[in-house]
Amino acid sequence: MREAAHSPTMVLDSVRRHLSPGLALGYNLLAKGAVETGASGATVRLSDGRELVDFGSYAVTLLGHRPPDVVAAVHEQLDVMPTATRALANPAVARFATALAARTAPLGRIWLGSDGADAVEAAVKLARRASGRTRVLAVEGAFHGKTLGALALTASPAYRAGLEPLLAGVTRVGREDAGAVARHCADGDVAALIMEPVQGEGGVRRLPHAARWAADARAAGVFVISDEIQAGLHRCGPFSVALAEDWRPDAVLFGKALGGGVLPLSAVTATDELYAPLLKDPTWHTATFGGHPLSCAAGTVALEVLERLAPRGEELSSRVRAGLAGLAAEHPDLITEVRGHGLLWGVDFATPAVAGGVFTELADHGLLVSPCLGSPHTIRLLPPLVTTAAELDRAFEALTKACAAARDYLEPT
Ligand SMILES: Cc1ncc(COP(=O)(O)O)c(C=O)c1O
Repeated sequence: MREAAHSPTMVLDSVRRHLSPGLALGYNLLAKGAVETGASGATVRLSDGRELVDFGSYAVTLLGHRPPDVVAAVHEQLDVMPTATRALANPAVARFATALAARTAPLGRIWLGSDGADAVEAAVKLARRASGRTRVLAVEGAFHGKTLGALALTASPAYRAGLEPLLAGVTRVGREDAGAVARHCADGDVAALIMEPVQGEGGVRRLPHAARWAADARAAGVFVISDEIQAGLHRCGPFSVALAEDWRPDAVLFGKALGGGVLPLSAVTATDELYAPLLKDPTWHTATFGGHPLSCAAGTVALEVLERLAPRGEELSSRVRAGLAGLAAEHPDLITEVRGHGLLWGVDFATPAVAGGVFTELADHGLLVSPCLGSPHTIRLLPPLVTTAAELDRAFEALTKACAAARDYLEPT
C-alpha cells in the first residue's frame, strides 16, 4: 500500500522522531514550518509557495538543480539498465571513466565511489599499500569527511571528540608552515600528503604553500593527493586546481557535483604507481554501489555541461566578488573578511553568533547558503554556474537585508 503524502508538519515530525530533533529544529528555524518541495536551476521551492535562491547545498549543485541534460541522461539509463551486475563490463561506467580520464591526464586510473569520504578512504589505502609506509600528512583546518579513516585527516575537534584514537600515523601540518612537508618527509616513513587546494569547510582558505609542499613531497617520493571534492570541477576556476597549477599530483579526488547534482558519485583519479594495488587485485577495495550506472550516466553528461558552462563562472565570480566587497565596506564591524575563488566564497562575521544570525536571516529574505563546518564564524556562498542575473540580484538583496538585521546579534561595545 502506498503511504499517504506527508504534510509539512508530518515531514518535520518524522524528522524529529526518526532522524534527529536537532535537524527538525534547524529545518524549522530556516523555513518556518515549510519544507522543500521542488527545485530547478538556482531556485528551490517551498511548501508554502516561497522560493529561495540556493547558494548552498554544500557545493553539490554547481550545475544547479535538475540540469536538463543530466536528468535526460539519467532517464535514458533508467530505461536501459539502472544497476550493474558487477560481474560484467558496463558501458555506462566505462563511458564515464573514459570521459573523466580525458580531463585528468596524466592521471589515467580511476576508482569510483559514491561519497567524498569514499574517495578519501580509497586514496589513503592506495597510498599506504603502494608505498609500504603508513604516515599521512594532513593540513590544519582540513576537511576530508567523517568516516573513521577520513575523520583521522579531518581537523575539526568537534567531530573527532569521543572517537580517538583514530587511524594512527596522521601528522597535522600548519597551514602557514612552508617547510613542514620537507621536514616530515625527511623521516622516510610518510606515504602521502593530502590537501585541499582551497579548504572549503575550513573557511574557504587557499593553502599558501601548496605548490612547494607538493614539490617537497614528490622530491621525497611521497604521494601527493589533491582533495578537490569541493574545489574541483571548475568550482574554483580550472577542472583541477592541482593539475592546472602543475603540482604533478599522484591523485586528484572528485565528488559533490560529479554526478551533476542529481546522483551521488565520487572518484579517485590516479597514476599507475599509486593505483598499483588495484592493478594487482581489482577486488582489493570495492563498494557495491560505487560507480553506479545511473550516477555514471549523469556524470558523463555533467562533465560535458560543466565544460560548456565553465566560462560563465568567471563573470559570475567577478560579480560576486564586487558585491561582497561592497557589502564588507558597508558593514566593517559586522564583516571581518571576505575570501573566495571562482564560485566558492567565504564571508567571516564578527562572531559565530552574528554568522548564525545572518544564516537564518538570509533564509528569511530568500537566500540559502552553507555554514562552514570547521569555521563557525564563516558563511559559505556556492553559486551555481547557471545562476541568472535576477537570482544574483535577489541573493544580494537578501544579503543586504540580512546584514542590516544581523546588527541585533552584535554584542554591545
Ligand atoms: C574537501 C572535501 N573532502 C571530502 C569531503 C567529504 O565528502 P562527503 O561528505 O561526500 O563524504 C568533503 C565534504 O564536504 C569535502 O569538502
